[in-house]
Amino acid sequence: MKKLECEKIFKEQYNTEPKSEYFAPGRVNLIGEYTDIAGGSVLPMAIQLGIWAGVSPRDDERIVIYSLEDKEEFSLAKLVKQKSQWINYVIGVFYVFSKHGYRVKQGLNIALNSNLPTASGLSSSAALEVLIGTIITAENKLEVTKRQIVQFAKETENDFIGLASGIMDQFACECGRDGKAILLNTKTLETEYVPFDLGNNDLVVMNSNKKRTLADSKYNQRVREMNEGLADLNKYINIDDVCSLTPDLFEKYKDKIKSEVSCRRIKHLVYENQRVLDANKILSRGDIDGFAQFLNLSHQSLRDDFEVSGKELDTLVEIAISGGAKGARMTGAGFGGCAIFISDKNKTQGIMNKVRKEYKEKIGLNAECYIVRASDGARKIK
Ligand code: GLA
Repeated sequence: MKKLECEKIFKEQYNTEPKSEYFAPGRVNLIGEYTDIAGGSVLPMAIQLGIWAGVSPRDDERIVIYSLEDKEEFSLAKLVKQKSQWINYVIGVFYVFSKHGYRVKQGLNIALNSNLPTASGLSSSAALEVLIGTIITAENKLEVTKRQIVQFAKETENDFIGLASGIMDQFACECGRDGKAILLNTKTLETEYVPFDLGNNDLVVMNSNKKRTLADSKYNQRVREMNEGLADLNKYINIDDVCSLTPDLFEKYKDKIKSEVSCRRIKHLVYENQRVLDANKILSRGDIDGFAQFLNLSHQSLRDDFEVSGKELDTLVEIAISGGAKGARMTGAGFGGCAIFISDKNKTQGIMNKVRKEYKEKIGLNAECYIVRASDGARKIK
């Protein structure tokens, strides 16, 4: 349906059919929040919601791109930051490809259409980055691997946009697989595709509709707080990153961290990393009830120690649990955005109704709920 809409939008904008079509999904992180800034493991999956693009070559060296009633354009000879926020994710990817020596000269008309809510913790920006990376690669006939697209998209986020994020989002959106979660070691990039079989349960995303942009959120502050604590620890033990610590080692050295705040940030990262490994074992055994318990523990830690949830996400999680969900937590960077829950299939609709009703009463915003499934990563579809 969105694919068809995308063709229609392209035609309206450019008076012709698109020559090619592409899709990039958003992602849900099941567990392992912020551990990717600390060399730890994460367990995300790509979802069926995402961004479609209709694309046709142009005769000049310009990119014209339409999205959500906004048409922007830029020259491939002048890849610099613009005022409008979303277009920078596009220009940035072109810039990074050229910086790495790739000849990116093919002008393009592009029309985007999305059913992925923006600025809500489902990685709409990473989806856009890897979508553009996939388009650049195919339309310029470059020999660039999926892993390189992930790296270039991350570099766009870090150096062009200015967010010190980890690699999880770009990896999940580019390398996701149907029916699988991805156990990713963000230090070594070792990957294991884990069958994500919920049996008689659903995985539901709850969108708080509290918007935030990470570029101006406290994301970079969390990175600084972690690094301060890491510097304190390194006077006593030699570690490259926080997730090199086991919980036991953390307990042994935690009083060396001068700031109480940095200590709580690091506590979250160390224990969250352990939870990813433990939760993954439980998931592989098909114990969904046990897996769901880890979601609850993760949320508590993000709320109390890492302090990135906030009243909207806490309220969503509380309502879902009180409605009978087996486990619930915020997903992604937090500060608004989305939370997830796992529930028995025959309870899902009831919980979703309760979430919509009570969230509106308590917070005054409309929550949206979507049942999601693990899906394939970015790809050319036509
Ligand atoms: C954002 C970042 C990711 C990750 C999450 C939190 O989505 O882009 O790299 O740090 O926040 O887990």
